[in-house]
Amino acid sequence: MHVVHVASEVFPYSRSGGLGDVLGALPAQQAKLGAEVTVVSPWYASITEPVREVWRGELNELPRDLGEVRVAEAVREGVRYVFVGLSVFDRPGLYHEDDVYRFSMFGRAVLPVLARLRLLPTVLHGHDWQAALVVARARLARLRTVYTIHNLQYQGKWNMYEGRYWTALPEFAYGLDGLEYFGEINLMKGGLNFAHQVTTVSPTYAQEITTPEYGEGLDGLLTRLSIEGRLSGIINGLDQERWNPRSDPYVPSFSDLRGKQAATQALRKEFGLDDAPILATVSRLAEQKGMDLLIEALPELVKDWNVVVLGGGDPLLTAALTGWAQHPRVAFTQGMNEPLSHRIYAGAYAFAMPSRFEPCGLSQMIAMRYGTLPIVRETGGLVDTVPHDVGFHFRDATHTALKAACDAALNTPPAEWARRVDHAMSLDFSWSGPARQYLHLYQRLTGQ
Ligand code: ADP
Ligand code: GLC
Repeated sequence: MHVVHVASEVFPYSRSGGLGDVLGALPAQQAKLGAEVTVVSPWYASITEPVREVWRGELNELPRDLGEVRVAEAVREGVRYVFVGLSVFDRPGLYHEDDVYRFSMFGRAVLPVLARLRLLPTVLHGHDWQAALVVARARLARLRTVYTIHNLQYQGKWNMYEGRYWTALPEFAYGLDGLEYFGEINLMKGGLNFAHQVTTVSPTYAQEITTPEYGEGLDGLLTRLSIEGRLSGIINGLDQERWNPRSDPYVPSFSDLRGKQAATQALRKEFGLDDAPILATVSRLAEQKGMDLLIEALPELVKDWNVVVLGGGDPLLTAALTGWAQHPRVAFTQGMNEPLSHRIYAGAYAFAMPSRFEPCGLSQMIAMRYGTLPIVRETGGLVDTVPHDVGFHFRDATHTALKAACDAALNTPPAEWARRVDHAMSLDFSWSGPARQYLHLYQRLTGQ
């Protein structure tokens, strides 16, 4: 069984959020279970880890003006990583405004590159809209295909005229049963239509996306897939070595609530906080994550809590948080910061995730590993991963509902808090169960 994953991010080479984390952990677990695993992603200019160039040349399948293609490889934990270097990836960062064009070129390059390297997939497993074109092409090449939705909000839409030219699929692929969506191309829709099986990253989210509220305009198609048995939910795991309070290089080692105090003291000192409990979040600053609700709740929250936020993204949310950082009980750090994220997960008292929607969410699982109890909106993977006797749930996407859940956390007696923390730290979020479920799915599709 040769599984080829295709995605736009893979930790530790490239990452903007949970997608990169998943691609950094799931493949290694599948390799451990005996599969041959390859992960294909872009060779971004920002990649600094060592990789080895294995091929360069022109591909007939790409437009001439794109020039030479360079391909590199690396091997980690039994997984082969293949990096496709195109001129469109020679710039800082991961994502840009012309991503539909960039990932169309990537989508055309992947299968020819695999052929040049003599790597024939048994199953091609694409992730999110950036890999959807590869899934469509793999299906047309008679490979078995799985397509995983990590985030339905980003679909890769563009006008039909350029989109068709860039994606270069056979004519019939641009119909209603293919990529066409209200006169435009929609790569996510193409992935959903072409894949043999579609999965998303939690069972609850797999249900939710069949409704207009969460379906992002694709709920009709997703409902059909669900009825046909072609849509299912497989929960994400966590790299439990990377997120382990006993052996985390960034924080004082601890294994219980008492030991956690040193991490809390360090975090207080780092941000000059007083003795009030610390409510934290580490998150992309996006509408999805409900960070506006947290900001709206701040005037009330700062009466009882210190609030520590690490994140980047939306300029308006960034500006609002930068303003709030003047307050002695609010600390805001902008941008991606891996070491600081560990110090926050370890040192905080509670972790806020007021997400409007959450396909799975890894942050709440990380927080629980470190005995930081999550306060979560009852949606998607947050429902599936945060037990009611560990975290604090709320229904409405409002700042008052969030505040009420924070109050419930604050009013929890110390003995019960300690019990919840013990429980949280003993939960198992390993990848081995989910990795097996994916392998079973591949076996069902291939008969191998
Ligand atoms: P999403 O993928 O929707 O952003 P997840 O909860 O699945 O949300 O994954 C987010 C991952 O990205 C977590 O590992 C979290 O710690 C990390 N992360 C998010 N923002 C930052 C940041 N500013 N600095 C460091 N890590 C971050
Ligand atoms: C997406 C989702 C998040 C999920 C992650 C990894 O970014 O927003 O909920 O955990 O992908 O699957």
